[in-house]
Amino acid sequence: MKERRDFIKKGLLLTGILAFNKSPLFGNNLDTLTNHNGDDESYWKLVKRQFPLQSDKIYLNNGTMGPSPYPVINAIQKDMMDIETSGRYGGNEDLAIEALSRFLSTKKEEISLTRNVTEGINIIASGLNLKKGDEVIMTQHEHVGHAGPWLNKAYTDGIVIKTFLLGKTAEETIDNLKKAITNKTKVISVPHIPCTIGQILPVKAICEIAREKNIFSFIDGAHPPGMLALSISDLNCDFYAGCCHKWMLGPKGTGFLYVAENMRDQLKVLYGGAGVDTGWDMLINPPSMKGYAENGHRFFYGTQNAASFKGIAAAIEFQETIGVAKIEKRVKQLSTYLQENLLAMGTTIDMLTPTESISRGAQIAFKIKDKDMAELQKKGYEKKIITRFVPENNINCLRVSTHIYNNFDEVDQFLELTERFIKS
Ligand SMILES: Cc1ncc(COP(=O)(O)O)c(C=O)c1O
Repeated sequence: MKERRDFIKKGLLLTGILAFNKSPLFGNNLDTLTNHNGDDESYWKLVKRQFPLQSDKIYLNNGTMGPSPYPVINAIQKDMMDIETSGRYGGNEDLAIEALSRFLSTKKEEISLTRNVTEGINIIASGLNLKKGDEVIMTQHEHVGHAGPWLNKAYTDGIVIKTFLLGKTAEETIDNLKKAITNKTKVISVPHIPCTIGQILPVKAICEIAREKNIFSFIDGAHPPGMLALSISDLNCDFYAGCCHKWMLGPKGTGFLYVAENMRDQLKVLYGGAGVDTGWDMLINPPSMKGYAENGHRFFYGTQNAASFKGIAAAIEFQETIGVAKIEKRVKQLSTYLQENLLAMGTTIDMLTPTESISRGAQIAFKIKDKDMAELQKKGYEKKIITRFVPENNINCLRVSTHIYNNFDEVDQFLELTERFIKS
């Protein structure tokens, strides 16, 4: 098997995807992260050194939580200390919004700061004016954070949720989606990358279909920011909810909601409070509010964690220092390597993540014939190899995420564990 893996590595090398140069180690200066094309394992060793992740742990579960690098942790700590020592109130909102809109290619006014993806989805599901019998199309691969807000809406308002199957290719997925659309469809609400099998959905095409039929498009973007070079304006969706605590490697409990400028007035504002309105007066009769903020602040309010906002900006700066295209290329190299080697183990492997390159991101999900994948996850934990068992919707597979702090040696160790497990 070792020979087989070397063969795959060599293949990637020949196609220019991988190069194992023995170049000198870099200094600990972040500038050195920028001026390098990343085709060199010593470069990624330097990247790994920016993370306090325990060195004896092989963390392949970024899909659940992205550990932050030192520049992010330091920025949060410093700002927190400033708040606690000076008594400073708030701040950094504009900094975080500015950084997010640059990173995601949106207008600043289209970004709301949230605590997580679920919060963003709730703002949309509760805010859209939907009535009993209106249909919302989703997949059968939803995370509770995406399914929950819509299921709640079905419970409270009688909307109807329709699901469709993901295809093995982008084309098949689009065909399946088209068949699910009826004249009652009001929203297409799909994950950009589902939590289950890591497949990239053709969301740009899906949003175009929605627009042509006058249907709202919502994208659950828990995973792409920080994994893929993402331009939300290019997707042309109506709404997109993401988080900073997964692939962006930012502070935990931080996220964003994108509401396209022309869609802002389509959403009912559920929470009033500081920042939501453009002025209010309790001394007139009756007391009233002037109107709503003409930006993303319409959907968030009150005292927030300013140090976390500083951390969002630092996380984006860290990603930009390395380069988003370089990050996407690297994390996909690792996942391609993992997928090809798993497939090389033969028909005992049931590969759930598509092999089509446009549909494959940085998460590989698979099952093994007649084996309990929760057991493989447990065996991994015993060896400090951390992955995610996926019980959602009875899929029962193992999901392996690869990010920039991972490397080929770590993937090899996971592959060896899997080989031993198959033989056991
Ligand atoms: C696809 C998907 N959607 C939504 C969520 C919920 O994210 P959050 O915990 O930030 O609300 C997750 C979390 O793993 C997810 O994977």
